[in-house]
Amino acid sequence: TNGKSLEGKTVLITAGPTYEAIDPVRFIGNHSSGKMGFSLAEEASKRGAKVILISGPSAQVIHDENVELHKVTSAKEMLAKVFEFYDTIDIGIASAAVADYAPKEVAKEKIKKNDENLTIELVKNPDILKTMGEKKTHQFLVGFALETQNEEENAKGKLEKKNLDMIVLNSLRDEGAGFKNDTNKIKIFTKTEKTEFNLKSKDEVAKDILNFVEAQLLK
Ligand code: C5P
Repeated sequence: TNGKSLEGKTVLITAGPTYEAIDPVRFIGNHSSGKMGFSLAEEASKRGAKVILISGPSAQVIHDENVELHKVTSAKEMLAKVFEFYDTIDIGIASAAVADYAPKEVAKEKIKKNDENLTIELVKNPDILKTMGEKKTHQFLVGFALETQNEEENAKGKLEKKNLDMIVLNSLRDEGAGFKNDTNKIKIFTKTEKTEFNLKSKDEVAKDILNFVEAQLLK
């Protein structure tokens, strides 16, 4: 890559899972590690971008002090944090595995195990990336898709529905790809192109993704 190729650009990245509280001690979450988003943040910063990383609970650490890390817990907090910055960014990359549903009510006290059955009513969370797409003025938006069936059609459907410029598909069928792994195997779709990449480390995948974004911005 050519040195400071993202100089002057502001990049916002969402990463990690979100945790949706059930009561003061429990939550609904998922196994997202946040690795892909943290790798993207460090690579974008290396390339001279101002980087705003908004992460749900994740064990990952940022080694680059220029990356501005904002930790959030729930999807609603992530949405609010994204929109504190949205007008100022050039590129938005949504790698967070946002919980699709959250408990309708958070119990004020720890729920006791008195009953044989417990029902927790869930309500749909806001779709952060879709909201970004709806409010898009000049931002270049990148989404991720993790599919188990009809993967290409679903990924392209999301590109349209969420008003994205580019979507990164990781297949669960590929050994070593997705979620908790240190490696990933991706396909990138724009409205007109499809590009396949080999299995590689998430740091290398981050370079491929940002190279692709840079090439699109030059078009
Ligand atoms: O619709 P689906 O969840 O498969 O879309 C995945 C993409 O949308 C990812 O880029 C993810 O970060 C983003 N997303 C989001 N907010 C949600 C759900 C997904 O930003 N509530």
